[in-house]
Amino acid sequence: MKIGFIVHSQSGNTLSVAQKLMDQLKLQGHDVMLTHIKDEDVNVSMQHPERFIKVVDEVTSYVDVLFIGGWVQAFILCRGLNHYINHQLNIQAKETHLFLTHHFPFEWMGGTNAMKQLTKHVIAKEHVIKTTKIFNWSRKNNQQHIDQWIESMITHINALV
Ligand SMILES: Cc1cc2nc3c(=O)[nH]c(=O)nc-3n(C[C@H](O)[C@H](O)[C@H](O)COP(=O)(O)O)c2cc1C
Repeated sequence: MKIGFIVHSQSGNTLSVAQKLMDQLKLQGHDVMLTHIKDEDVNVSMQHPERFIKVVDEVTSYVDVLFIGGWVQAFILCRGLNHYINHQLNIQAKETHLFLTHHFPFEWMGGTNAMKQLTKHVIAKEHVIKTTKIFNWSRKNNQQHIDQWIESMITHINALV
């Protein structure tokens, strides 16, 4: 299957989650593409969310499954991803999965609010959202949660084939 990842990641946490899943999907024989975007300067991204760089830009046409990943910035969705979705997300997918990373140990400390925003923007682009997941980076068993999520996504995708 053609599987795309659109990931906004500044310091690498969100990208590391995507890459772990991408590696597994490649091993299973899927065709995997990544678009990685990051702010030119995170310190001005609240005022200038349009100033982002596409580090890699492979997701340019239809995919079967799309993953969109981002992070929490000042208790809301990172502004660069917010801007990208509203102005540049023009590919379609049969289904879309959303994930976010944030620092705090509990989802209500920013993650839940940011996920609500992300979901709203992606639905406005007529995507069918299948799952959402928030990773709480300072929680002790964060890595275990990532591994469990990856396993469940692999099972889900392999069942679609
Ligand atoms: C400017 C800035 C603001 C942040 N605001 C929050 C926040 O409100 N809540 C939170 O839990 N984490 C916050 N974080 C932490 C990031 O969400 C967290 O480190 C995330 O995993 C970063 O993802 P990345 O490494 O993919 O860029 C902030 C980080 C930065 C740089």
